[in-house]
Amino acid sequence: MNRHVVITGASSGIGAACAHAFAKAGDRLSLGARREERLAGVVATAFHHPLDVTAARSVERFLAAAIERHGPIDILVNNAGLARGVEKIAEGTGEAWREMIETNVLGLLEVTRRVLPHMVQNKNGHVVVIGSIAGHKAYVGGGVYCASKRALQPICEAIRMETLGTGIRVTSVDPGLCETEFSVVRFRGDEERATKVYQDTRALRAEDVADCVLFAVDRPAHVNLDTIVVMPTDQASPQMVHRGGR
Ligand SMILES: NC(=O)c1ccc[n+]([C@@H]2O[C@H](COP(=O)([O-])OP(=O)(O)OC[C@H]3O[C@@H](n4cnc5c(N)ncnc54)[C@H](OP(=O)(O)O)[C@@H]3O)[C@@H](O)[C@H]2O)c1
Repeated sequence: MNRHVVITGASSGIGAACAHAFAKAGDRLSLGARREERLAGVVATAFHHPLDVTAARSVERFLAAAIERHGPIDILVNNAGLARGVEKIAEGTGEAWREMIETNVLGLLEVTRRVLPHMVQNKNGHVVVIGSIAGHKAYVGGGVYCASKRALQPICEAIRMETLGTGIRVTSVDPGLCETEFSVVRFRGDEERATKVYQDTRALRAEDVADCVLFAVDRPAHVNLDTIVVMPTDQASPQMVHRGGR
């Protein structure tokens, strides 16, 4: 399609799967994340540049490099995000809370606020936000992660209102259980504990979520998909997952 697609957090999981899907569709990619060596291996031909969404200077440099390479941004996929720990509120730490809020909310804002003026000027653009079912329903040990994802809903709503009439689209793709490095990060590298999250159930694959993103951006220009909530068939809520066979 030859659209310029910027993906944050493209070094693994859903971001990397989106990169593959857009590359297959013939789009021009600008991929960002902190682990540059991982980014380089995602789509060999794609432009990639280090990005830490929590550092304003890094965001500025990343976007400047992306625009210099591929010109105006047609699609922004705000995917970079993480959860840290499963501590209850009374047992939580400011460090983990800050990391989640700074990455998932402030980082997303830092990127989006710099991209939107270009989109408004060009009267073209699609902002995709990777939210979560955690933003729809809280769960024990997920309070702050859930809050960080819930916060994306009014942000998306406000952008739709603020850009009304410019042709800009805003879509939130909100997945449930998806097998990526998400749980390894959440459990600070404890692979064994992370594996248990996906044990005996059929979680989403990152490609399933990328499919939803591609579906949303491929609708005709006059159609804006507001929110796509996508869960595995074996999941009914954040903490209700069927395990074992049928
Ligand atoms: N997996 C799930 O079950 C699930 C469900 C609902 C929603 N989500 C959401 O999906 C998104 C992608 O997560 P995933 O499941 O694909 O997990 P993942 O495999 O751990 O990928 C997370 C990505 O975010 C990047 N990232 C984290 N902090 C960053 C920062 N400060 N600056 C730039 N990039 C950063 C990571 O790259 P670097 O470490 O290289 O920077 C990585 O590429 C997240 O927003 C997550 O909240 C996941």
